[in-house]
Amino acid sequence: MDREKAVEMLNKYVKMPHIITHSYAVEAVMRALAKKFEPDKVDLWGLAGLLHDLDEDLVDWKADMSLHGPKTVEVLKENNFGNEEMYHAILAHNPANGSKITNAFERAMYAADPITGFINAITLVYPDKKIKSVKVKSITKRMSEVRFAAGANREAMKSIERLGIKFPEFAELALNAMTEISDVLGL
Ligand SMILES: [Fe+2]
Repeated sequence: MDREKAVEMLNKYVKMPHIITHSYAVEAVMRALAKKFEPDKVDLWGLAGLLHDLDEDLVDWKADMSLHGPKTVEVLKENNFGNEEMYHAILAHNPANGSKITNAFERAMYAADPITGFINAITLVYPDKKIKSVKVKSITKRMSEVRFAAGANREAMKSIERLGIKFPEFAELALNAMTEISDVLGL
């Protein structure tokens, strides 16, 4: 499994630029989480993050939400890419497909997906719109403002605590991971 092929697939199947940047953000957060929870699988966790939304333009979301995830797995198999562990983690980010979270890798995917959009939204309310200006405190504070970035699933982000890490620590880890690739993210 090499990253170059993953990036190639990402650019082939995903048309919307904001989904591509989102994919890079989730990759960065997943790599940071792997370093903490499964240091021997940093590349695998990162690739799952990078490819988790590969089917974004291939499924009709409004018609059937449950296809988001399974379609990505189908495409990855067609391309001879990935392994079962990765497929399960990708499926886990969308409970609507019937998947259940059974391990740390899957839990990390479920929580990493929404926190990237959440941090993105928080960055954009800062006067300079720069991620380097964002404080961990504003991430934790915004968690309780239900109408702010309402699409970012609070329960999913908070559920990282089941891995024995407190939410503020997760927020800091995600913020740092995204800040490292701020040029890629345009933040
Ligand atoms: Fe996503």
